[in-house]
Amino acid sequence: MELAERLLLDALAYLECALSFLFFALLTLLGSPYGRYASQRAAWSLTAPTAWAVQELPSLAVPLLVCVATAAERLRRWPNRILLAMFIVHYTQRSLIFPFLIRGGKPTPLYACVLAFAFCTYNGYLQSRYLSQYAVYGDDWVTDPRFLTGFVLWLVGMLINIHSDYILRNLRKPGETGYKIPRGGLFEYVSAANYFGEVVEWCGYGLASWSVQGGAFALFTFCVLLSRARQHHQWYLEKFEDYPKSRKILIPFLF
Ligand SMILES: NC(=O)c1ccc[n+]([C@@H]2O[C@H](COP(=O)([O-])OP(=O)(O)OC[C@H]3O[C@@H](n4cnc5c(N)ncnc54)[C@H](OP(=O)(O)O)[C@@H]3O)[C@@H](O)[C@H]2O)c1
Repeated sequence: MELAERLLLDALAYLECALSFLFFALLTLLGSPYGRYASQRAAWSLTAPTAWAVQELPSLAVPLLVCVATAAERLRRWPNRILLAMFIVHYTQRSLIFPFLIRGGKPTPLYACVLAFAFCTYNGYLQSRYLSQYAVYGDDWVTDPRFLTGFVLWLVGMLINIHSDYILRNLRKPGETGYKIPRGGLFEYVSAANYFGEVVEWCGYGLASWSVQGGAFALFTFCVLLSRARQHHQWYLEKFEDYPKSRKILIPFLF
């Protein structure tokens, strides 16, 4: 039984890598389906706060359920505890705080919310079962340079992500729904500073976990957010004549 689930978690991680490339291709070809690109003709849609809270909740609920309702043998170890806590901290912010701060967000088509919900359930199970039951680290892993560097990247990435989302939110006064050029923070360097933070965060987590499971999530985040960041960048250039031409798409000074 244990071996079967261990193999399943490996298979799911490799499948997540394959899905990363598939989603990158689909999103590049068809465009992202929510926010400013959401079709006005979608038959069923949810308000932005409802969609974000509902679709992200499995990434918080599944790990919590795994912690309380399963043996979670490996959570007696500090490296496993810290890594799972990194995942849970992010999704507490994303599903319980972020949705209720949104200002004037566009409705999300129901199918986009269902897809995100399915992914969060999948990835929540993958990361939490792997870390709580199967990932083996020595107790000295918490002083290993890969763990320490990864942890710092995770923390810095999360702070950049939250700060950048804060800048975007404050572009609108209460009741406004239009768009302005984001200024300040890492928006001076890239069009999608919030996505840059998120990518750094999960690359840090992938490095600290040193696992196919953690790496697969970092790759998925990079592929999905790079395609949407490219769309945002092009959209800004077309919408605002005075949009700063020196800004890159996602990674400062690179692309
Ligand atoms: N891990 C992953 O794979 C993943 C995937 C997707 C998103 N995320 C994270 O989820 C968060 C939200 O993502 P998102 O795709 O919704 O980000 P987004 O497109 O940048 O939008 C974020 C919010 O800011 C508003 N906004 C964006 N640009 C604006 C502008 N120029 N002027 C005024 N308001 C603006 C949007 O309103 P509108 O809704 O009206 O456009 C929305 O409410 C981010 O932190 C992102 O990193 C993670």
